[in-house]
Amino acid sequence: MSETSTALITGASAGFGRATALVLAERGWDLIITARRAEPLEQVRRATGATALPGDVADPAHRARLAAVLAERDRLDLVLNNASALGPSPLPHLADLPLGAFATVLQTNVVAPLAVLQLALPALRACDGTVIDISSDAAVMAYQGWGGYGASKAALDQLTAVFAAENPRLRIYSFDPGDMRTAMHQAAFPGEDISDRPEPETVVPALLQLIDTRPPSGRYTAAELSVAH
Ligand SMILES: NC(=O)c1ccc[n+]([C@@H]2O[C@H](COP(=O)([O-])OP(=O)(O)OC[C@H]3O[C@@H](n4cnc5c(N)ncnc54)[C@H](OP(=O)(O)O)[C@@H]3O)[C@@H](O)[C@H]2O)c1
Repeated sequence: MSETSTALITGASAGFGRATALVLAERGWDLIITARRAEPLEQVRRATGATALPGDVADPAHRARLAAVLAERDRLDLVLNNASALGPSPLPHLADLPLGAFATVLQTNVVAPLAVLQLALPALRACDGTVIDISSDAAVMAYQGWGGYGASKAALDQLTAVFAAENPRLRIYSFDPGDMRTAMHQAAFPGEDISDRPEPETVVPALLQLIDTRPPSGRYTAAELSVAH
């Protein structure tokens, strides 16, 4: 059996997913990465030596391609469900949230992560692996405009918690990274200066704590992990 740690990272072409991919590659991990736009993903592939599959995680045909790549591996140490849809920008109040856009948010942020876990489960079980589903404070706070996205992250949190209860040998986490200076964050605050938000690279050490120390399954924030460090 291969001893090289293997991870599947969704949304690895930018922001937090890219920052995590670069650090895990430095550590010698074998990475499978995905995102919709091929060119930014290709840049991360070149920097990490990853296996890159461009496509939409909400597309079942793309997920079938991911499953085929996973089938070539004998272990999967980590699934990072990081790809996410914000919904319309500027963020509308729920009264004005187009239902089609909400459905896309739910497909991307809830249905797709579960589908990825379903297809990854045999390889995760082979090495008692780790799952990290990326959450948000919008899952637990009632911010105006964040109802669609926040509801999707709340659903993802619950799905993560039940998946953990059903798979006690694995480590299964919701991880709230806190504000980060990324394209998604800028879309949430169009036209605003977000240069005071931390770069996603600064949050990766908190995620690594989960991977390295494997605390009990549950919901963790980057802020509390950084304090505990
Ligand atoms: N930034 C924040 O302040 C903040 C705060 C709390 C939580 N989060 C969470 O942190 C995670 C990372 O967000 P980020 O801020 O790093 O966002 P980002 O910089 O916009 O990056 C998002 C990544 O996901 C990919 N992606 C988006 N939709 C996808 C889809 N349907 N299929 C495949 N890939 C997809 C994007 O590439 P393509 O567009 O090419 O697909 C990109 O690689 C998300 O789960 C987000 O909800 C962010």
